[in-house]
Amino acid sequence: MRVLGIETSCDETGVAVYDSEAGLLAHLLHSQAAMHAEYGGVVPELASRDHVRKLVPLLDEVLIRGGRRGRGGIDGIAYTAGPGLVGALLVGAAVGRSLAFAWRVPSVAVNHMEGHLLAPMLEPDGPEFPFLALLVSGGHTQLVAVDGVGEYRMLGESLDDAAGEAFDKTATLLGLPYPGGPELAALAEAGDPDRFRFPRPMTDRPGLDFSFSGLKTFAMNTINDSPGDPETRAAIARAFEEAVVDTLVIKCRRALEHTGLERLVVSGGVSANRRLRLSMGALADELSISVHYPRLAFCTDNGAMVAYAGCQRLLAGAEEPLAFGALARWPLDSLGPPGAGLKD
Ligand code: KG4
Ligand code: ZN
Repeated sequence: MRVLGIETSCDETGVAVYDSEAGLLAHLLHSQAAMHAEYGGVVPELASRDHVRKLVPLLDEVLIRGGRRGRGGIDGIAYTAGPGLVGALLVGAAVGRSLAFAWRVPSVAVNHMEGHLLAPMLEPDGPEFPFLALLVSGGHTQLVAVDGVGEYRMLGESLDDAAGEAFDKTATLLGLPYPGGPELAALAEAGDPDRFRFPRPMTDRPGLDFSFSGLKTFAMNTINDSPGDPETRAAIARAFEEAVVDTLVIKCRRALEHTGLERLVVSGGVSANRRLRLSMGALADELSISVHYPRLAFCTDNGAMVAYAGCQRLLAGAEEPLAFGALARWPLDSLGPPGAGLKD
């Protein structure tokens, strides 16, 4: 089955063609980051308008690259229907649902976090079920026990800021441009690891939930109490990054021990972080388990993960009515296995 995937949940317009036999045939991405940088964060109305401008030309191009112009053997369409910015989501949903209607093929509403969760399966050495997934993106930090597509048990999540959000907000405090996560990570590379020590929030009590907003406040106080020279800023970035990474590793270790799972998936934008990958690799070696990530280009938002997740559901017979929608919030553990469709 050949599936066209569409991602417009936030500030990236992503499209892809995935074939269940041949694998990923083509993918394209337009990032709005430069447009939003001027405002220090995503402006929802501007995001929607830019998806409107970019989506159809990108679709035209990805279909050419993935085979032929136009329908070109597409058997189904997958679009992100949530969670995310509703105006932005509706652009992808309306285009995706309408194309499916015109082409007389089924379409499926994909949960964005399910896309992230399954993204490592696009790789040749991707994980088999079951596995533990740590989802670390700009909007979510979640630990999920995964038994199969749609079979998700939420073990823990952030009670306040997501890991990526904490990276971005701390980066802003350090005067770095939006989106700050990768910028902060780059600054941290040169930072003295012994100069500051930040707390590891919620690790001294049992449980698998996270809280990162205190870390951001800790960073703010440290910045205010310290000189603003480049070495100090780098050392603060380093201490912050190490605190986030350590906290994520501590909770992953706990969840692996608790569930007995032998495969770990780390996915979402923050899974691109080099130091996080190093530490998770060390944890995996120590516990003799395997760890899987998406390729770097598919850690952050993209159309390929949506095409892949949608393909799994379409193969299982999922099909939607003509009426479509988008959900700002759409918990992963409300999904159910393929065939369940969009619930609200
Ligand atoms: O998954 P994603 O593209 O969007 C959401 O679904 O939210 O994740 C974006 C987040 C941003 O907060 C960004 O700063 C963060 O991922 N990020 C990173 C790195 N690359 C992206 N954070 C830390 N280190 C990185 N290398
Ligand atoms: Zn995302």
